[in-house]
Amino acid sequence: MSAVASIFDPVTLPCGFRLQNRVIKAAMEENMATHHCLPGPALFSLYRYWAHGNLGMIITGNVMVDKQAMTGPGGVALEADTPLEPFTQWAKIIRSNGAKAIMQINHPGRQVLKAMRGKAIAPSAVGLNMGKHSKMFATPVEMTGDDIHDVCQRFVTTAMRAVDAGFDGVEIHAAHGYLLTQFLSPLTNQRKDEWGGALENRARLLLNIVSQIKARCPSGFLIMVKINSADFQRGGFELGDAIRVIERLEALGVNIIEVSGGSYESPAMQRRNTDEQTLAREAYFLEFASRIAKATAIPVMTTGGIKRAPVAQRVINKGCTLVGMASALAFTPDLVKKWQAEPDYSGVIPHCHWRDKALASLATMSMVRRQLRRLGNDLTTVRHPSALWSLVLDMCHRKRMTRRYLNEQNQ
Ligand SMILES: Cc1cc2nc3c(=O)[nH]c(=O)nc-3n(C[C@H](O)[C@H](O)[C@H](O)COP(=O)(O)O)c2cc1C
Repeated sequence: MSAVASIFDPVTLPCGFRLQNRVIKAAMEENMATHHCLPGPALFSLYRYWAHGNLGMIITGNVMVDKQAMTGPGGVALEADTPLEPFTQWAKIIRSNGAKAIMQINHPGRQVLKAMRGKAIAPSAVGLNMGKHSKMFATPVEMTGDDIHDVCQRFVTTAMRAVDAGFDGVEIHAAHGYLLTQFLSPLTNQRKDEWGGALENRARLLLNIVSQIKARCPSGFLIMVKINSADFQRGGFELGDAIRVIERLEALGVNIIEVSGGSYESPAMQRRNTDEQTLAREAYFLEFASRIAKATAIPVMTTGGIKRAPVAQRVINKGCTLVGMASALAFTPDLVKKWQAEPDYSGVIPHCHWRDKALASLATMSMVRRQLRRLGNDLTTVRHPSALWSLVLDMCHRKRMTRRYLNEQNQ
């Protein structure tokens, strides 16, 4: 039996892509774009920290394929006519110390904040149900066939421009309740045409996007898909569905699958660790990822809850090829170096145990985003931030970013 690789070992993927190790910075929307949704100085400073963090691959926060449909204020968008130079600079910084640069590309579908006054389109006109917080989100309009083709073209255009900017690959975001997840889930996709009904139809948009990116981008350009292991909602997308979609993605030549789970309505990607921390509990989706890894030849990465080296190693031991981390790398961008020097070193993942789950989820995100902004301003991170104060600061920042976005849209 061959020995299991260490997380710190280099790895050559079946597609020939070589990574300097198996620890990956997962996507985190930074909400730190400069004017006109472009990457700028704050993002560059932030990514310099990760570039020096000894990571195998760095995935950007989601980059929108349509500037009129943003996941949040201060987000980045890359369209056909967007100036490319800031993206070229971004890729160069990410790659400056040997990590590969992957751009995550996304469309929010119905997960658009009303305050952003953007386009909220979805497979069916099913609004978000987040109890009393539902009113924060725009009511979606059911997409026409032309809308669906337009979105597909936009993903392909953004991927081709990522090639031109010097990125090593793209990650198509088909998790966390965004547009491609909305197509995959029978709860949000109630269409009766070729885009709805059977899983084959619900997966059609994702599969079309992948096959067109594959056809239009150079052969060495890496294509990743981030997919939910499950929606964690009754009647929603389940592990068996994920495995069937991944079989199709394998046939199309996808190079890496990132396994996550949940959505705004059911934020499983932020599982609350109220119990003692065990290796199994810390990697939220490991059991799912491990089953997926057994079912596919595509290298699997899983993200969620990882902050300690033994947990990361367990992910590899259980059959995954790569380990993804988001929150812990916001608090400690050089966590991998710290693990190498001190194997018991633990990173930080914040949790907020307020009774209002939606607010607790926002506060948790705001604690992480606060660290991203601090790094972007070349300040040290705060290891134990106050949830309330982080939320207040985040709301002020988001208000400012929303105002700027709306002013720019009206110009
Ligand atoms: C502030 C913040 C922003 C995020 N933005 C994205 C994103 O743009 N795309 C994405 O796929 N996941 C995003 N996520 C989810 C993470 O990639 C990851 O799946 C999740 O946080 C669980 O991993 P962790 O426990 O290591 O943080 C975000 C998470 C946080 C905390």
